[in-house]
Amino acid sequence: MSSTEQTLSIIKPDAVERNLDREIKEIFNTNGFKIFKEKKIQITKAEAEQFYKVHETKPFYNDLCDYLSSGPIVVMILEKENAVLANRELMGATNPKDAKEGTIRKKFGISIDKNSVHGSDSVENAKIEINFFFKD
Ligand code: CMP
Repeated sequence: MSSTEQTLSIIKPDAVERNLDREIKEIFNTNGFKIFKEKKIQITKAEAEQFYKVHETKPFYNDLCDYLSSGPIVVMILEKENAVLANRELMGATNPKDAKEGTIRKKFGISIDKNSVHGSDSVENAKIEINFFFKD
């Protein structure tokens, strides 16, 4: 039996700044994702720290939180069968240099920090991340 799954996607400041949000949403649509909810927001550094709490011991944590709060982002709930995995495949490797041809990060990513999109890495984290941005 198959069922629709939800995942959280973020179009990061580097992509929003370059006005790529419409094009990236179109890529999700043409790959069979339904954008169930979306909003364009700017978060505070404290909110970014909360969102990326799993990375708090990593050396890149501070820069990562500065970066995510540096400009507008688009947060979306994406729906599709196996959405978490399908989104990770469509995004490509975290470092755009390692991302495969045809992936969003290969096409638009600038660096490991400015890698244009975030996606939940598990079904469990997808629920936590969706709740973080869409509590209401
Ligand atoms: P994202 O999928 O949003 O999750 C955490 C982010 O940390 C990741 O994308 C990268 O943009 C960023 N990052 C910076 N340095 C590293 C690193 N060495 N390993 C993994 N992620 C990193």
